[in-house]
Amino acid sequence: MLKVDVIIGMQHGDEGKGKVTHYLLSKGPYTHCVRYNGGCNAGHTIYHKGEKFVTHHIPAGVFFGVKSIIGPGCVVDIHKFFDEIKMLREGGIDIADKIFIAKNAHVIQSRHLQADYGETKLGTTRTGNGPCYSEKYARTGSRAEGYRILEPYLVDMYEEFFIRHPNAEVLCEGAQGAELDIDWGDYPYVTSSHCTSAGACLNGFPPQSIRSVIGVAKAYETYVGTKDFQPDQQGFNALQVAGEEFGATTGRKRQCNWMSLPNLEKVVKLNGVTNLVINKMDVLEEVGAWSVYVDHRRANLFTFQNKDQFCEYVKEYFPSVDVIFSGSPERI
Ligand code: IMO
Ligand code: MG
Repeated sequence: MLKVDVIIGMQHGDEGKGKVTHYLLSKGPYTHCVRYNGGCNAGHTIYHKGEKFVTHHIPAGVFFGVKSIIGPGCVVDIHKFFDEIKMLREGGIDIADKIFIAKNAHVIQSRHLQADYGETKLGTTRTGNGPCYSEKYARTGSRAEGYRILEPYLVDMYEEFFIRHPNAEVLCEGAQGAELDIDWGDYPYVTSSHCTSAGACLNGFPPQSIRSVIGVAKAYETYVGTKDFQPDQQGFNALQVAGEEFGATTGRKRQCNWMSLPNLEKVVKLNGVTNLVINKMDVLEEVGAWSVYVDHRRANLFTFQNKDQFCEYVKEYFPSVDVIFSGSPERI
């Protein structure tokens, strides 16, 4: 029977999903790793054998010789896809016969990049994502199967998982985060894809195949885009500096704020999160502040004396979920 574990971002992206994917692949019995949404708007920072890699398209399975598929929920920039293959090869990663693209994934065209380039309203990553998904849904886009250059990489998801490997164990790697989801995020300050666990199912994985949903959050929140997110107080700049909060894709400064527990709770419920990983605890340690919001509107802040109090409160807040606290990617 097909078994699928799904990794989702629980905030506004950049929660450390890449680190968790990499860790689970190093431990787990996975036969496949599938990116299920987004395109090269994602930037996943991974430390593999001490080397830093930033991937945009290609799932982290490739670091462990696991078949890595860019799923049908994704959009692909062909130039960046080949650049990434080159970067991985030069970094000593054996990628032969490990990287695939679903036949029905969509392809980002130069006109999508041009359309996204002028975009200033939302502060997109200007990678052509939104315009490509727009054409997909307008039924004027083009799928990967139409490109000869992609032929050696193409895979049919149905054949792969229901005919060739019906007992596959799949790790689904999400991009962005629940607060950027097209349906559940703060519209229009969202991305154009489905970042939820349901988004993973859209790639051809039936609900019954989902074994666990690993939600990844950061001990404080960050956001890149045009809306005001960071409060005026000075403390947040310290957080931005200590956490080195610059976009992995665009290099933009990320706005910072404390973590909202009710927002996380909503994400736990809407996505069926079974395991919760809270990353970058070391950054709060460095700035010496332990705070969380306890209402949706970020008005009511609880501040704790130390890490233990913070962890205890968070664990009690999610009694039905297995909560793990962790550090920054480069420190694990
Ligand atoms: P990962 O996978 C953080 C944000 C953009 C912008 C909005 C829409 O690394 O966590 P888009 O280019 O998707 O149309 O931009 O979404 N955004 C991200 N922010 N991490 C990401 O990915 C993001 N991908 C998109 O900054 O506000
Ligand atoms: Mg990122």
